Amino acid sequence: MSQRKPYVGGNWKMNTNRNTAAELARGVVDGLRDVSNVDVAVFPPFPYLLAVRAILRDRSSSIKLGAQDCYHKPDGAFTGEVSIEMLKDCGVEVILCGHSERRHVLGETDAVVNEKLRAVLDGGLEAILCVGETLDERIAGHTDPVNQRQVRAALSDVTGDQISRVTIAYEPVWAIGTGKTATPEDAQDVQAKIRKLIAGMYGADTAERMRIMYGGSVKPSNASELFKGTDIDGGLIGGASLKVSEFAPIVRAASAVARGQA
Ligand code: PGA
Repeated sequence: MSQRKPYVGGNWKMNTNRNTAAELARGVVDGLRDVSNVDVAVFPPFPYLLAVRAILRDRSSSIKLGAQDCYHKPDGAFTGEVSIEMLKDCGVEVILCGHSERRHVLGETDAVVNEKLRAVLDGGLEAILCVGETLDERIAGHTDPVNQRQVRAALSDVTGDQISRVTIAYEPVWAIGTGKTATPEDAQDVQAKIRKLIAGMYGADTAERMRIMYGGSVKPSNASELFKGTDIDGGLIGGASLKVSEFAPIVRAASAVARGQA
């Protein structure tokens, strides 16, 4: 972590129901009210966005409302899809693009991720671009080329003005939901290379300002060590974001590292 303000997101995935989503949102807001040096976002399932927004607003929370996915077309005959304008209408400020489950379970290609990312940015919102290698790719020694390919492809035609609204989340696929975490050294190594790539594409200043999160089985017990990496600016949290008792300590770990007190 550096002078960049840490950023921690809670990706609830296809979990919670109307009651538990509201309860979780209230818990996160109340549990983190005193933390001001970390940007926090929550990504509830689509049906609960409005309810969570109401809770964030009622409590004057600075926690951002996020969406887990979107469709890049503005409107029309796309049954089942949700447009960026619809999400904006629901108060969404930030959208995940290219999450590994979208890529590997739902079949999103690099080209689709690029279309969605550009649409999010054209719509004036913030994006968290997720990239990461599979276990086979890591074993074959392809970790860096895979991550570099995903970053380059997703950012194709993203302008120098728009890039300031992009955060990258490095999430090795083999570490997501598996309990296996990349070592702080592994994560730092990949993330430093991603920052170098961004410097080559957009210049050193932009790369220095860009926040790069780590995701993949982050928990209260490993958050601090991960967030101490110079190029690790917070985390995207799945499983542990579903319990305030786990999510809040992770955000506090980012806060403590940023204050130099971890
Ligand atoms: P996990 O998920 O924390 O459950 O591994 C991370 C993610 O998918 O963003």
